[in-house]
Amino acid sequence: MITTQGLTKVFGAVTAVNRVDLRIEKGEIFGVVGPDGAGKTTLLRMLCGIITPTAGRVTFDAVASGRGPDARPVLGYMPQRFGLYGDLTVIENVNFHGALYGLDRRAIGRRADELLRLTGLIEFKQRFADHLSGGMKQKLALTCALLARPEVLVLDEPTYGVDPEYRKEFWKILYRLNGEGVTIVVSTAYMDEAELCHRVAFVNCGTLIAVDTPGNLKEKYPYKILELEAEAVDLDFIGDLPGVIEAAAYGGRYRLAVREVEAAKVALGALLADKGIDILRLEEVPPTMEDVFVFLAGKGVV
Ligand SMILES: Nc1ncnc2c1ncn2[C@@H]1O[C@H](COP(=O)(O)OP(=O)(O)O)[C@@H](O)[C@H]1O
Ligand SMILES: [Mg+2]
Repeated sequence: MITTQGLTKVFGAVTAVNRVDLRIEKGEIFGVVGPDGAGKTTLLRMLCGIITPTAGRVTFDAVASGRGPDARPVLGYMPQRFGLYGDLTVIENVNFHGALYGLDRRAIGRRADELLRLTGLIEFKQRFADHLSGGMKQKLALTCALLARPEVLVLDEPTYGVDPEYRKEFWKILYRLNGEGVTIVVSTAYMDEAELCHRVAFVNCGTLIAVDTPGNLKEKYPYKILELEAEAVDLDFIGDLPGVIEAAAYGGRYRLAVREVEAAKVALGALLADKGIDILRLEEVPPTMEDVFVFLAGKGVV
């Protein structure tokens, strides 16, 4: 549905997006995943035609809607920082954005109720946007992005900084929209959200480091993960054990990336016994998207 070739954006000394080749298929939930400053916003803005690439291009498949060979699919864009008017009510914000999209009042009215029901804001129609919670503001932003009935919905970190309960709800709405045929391109820095996408593009420092399904990405991860809980608090020395690629503490537990599970268990057992530290738990767990990202980002190659 959308193809990018050599897509590049340079801001002065910073290459925000560096020669990105991507293909986003119709009907998928496509995640653009990476840390702050990775180039997600710049990439999404170029997909939507909001900023001009320094080099490369974005092309859209011909739209089978009788709108002509050069027609682009209808795009809905929800920016990272959405311009809601705090002193307008929910419905006034919707009307205002509908007018920006060039929709007439009647079309907006019909669509507004349907969308506010979908996003769960129907009861808050008359509330001032300033009086909405962070999560509800994001839902209002989504409502506005959906007014033009987009075939492709592009969302830039829509769940940034909102609580987990709300994030779950937001993703439920995205799945419903996708079930109705909307192609979704969504950026996030949350690795647990990467799991929810059909396919994920990992970006780091403007570069695409992998594109695949979460399942395939995890399958290709070359190491095993061990989780360790022990009596002692500071176990940073285990990172130096041969065969341990990486060790990091997560709230009282250690996660270790190792080459060989059994060999690592034996070596760890011996080392900790030697120091008189009891192991409370030591077992293999599946890799997460975070593990995969850390590995790929460290490798610096596709
Ligand atoms: N308009 C701009 N002018 C100068 N530098 C920019 C501009 N927009 C983004 N950048 C830089 O490009 C890089 C990528 O930014 P951005 O696309 O916002 O990443 P992300 O959305 O993943 O946090 C950052 O180093 C950022 O400072
Ligand atoms: Mg951003």
